[in-house]
Amino acid sequence: MATPAHVAIIMDGNGRWAKARGMPRLAGHRAGVEALRKTVRAAPGLGISFLTVYAFSSENWSRPKSEVSDLMGLLKLFIRRDLAELHQNGVRVRIVGDRSGLQPDIRGLLQEAESLTAGNESLTLVIAFNYGGRD
Ligand code: FPP
Repeated sequence: MATPAHVAIIMDGNGRWAKARGMPRLAGHRAGVEALRKTVRAAPGLGISFLTVYAFSSENWSRPKSEVSDLMGLLKLFIRRDLAELHQNGVRVRIVGDRSGLQPDIRGLLQEAESLTAGNESLTLVIAFNYGGRD
């Protein structure tokens, strides 16, 4: 089978993954980010040009406040820790979704990631954040 040029992943099942191991939901979300990291590293070598991840839908705001805050924290951490590596590996980062509802520091990080990596060509990583079918 030919490798698809565009792969989209719904970041789902983190809670179930953690529950099955007797771990807190945050551990599941952290493992989800680690799985994303591995996927991004592997994608260019597999011939994938576009990787879209559905990370946080607008419906997810209705989760407990502490979990929403954990998820925002994980997104920030991902950009802060991984941006240099993403850039080095030629990954272009694009964000889709409603940024106006996000905290200013997150908006700044997303903007920084997009600007820094705008000219990269090995893989386009599209992060869908604060998106929704109802929107
Ligand atoms: C679904 O698992 C996962 C989420 C709602 C959040 C995924 C987003 C992050 C981990 C934030 C970081 C994002 C990036 C791009 C670095 P679930 O809790 O619905 O699991 P369940 O279906 O098993 O309950």
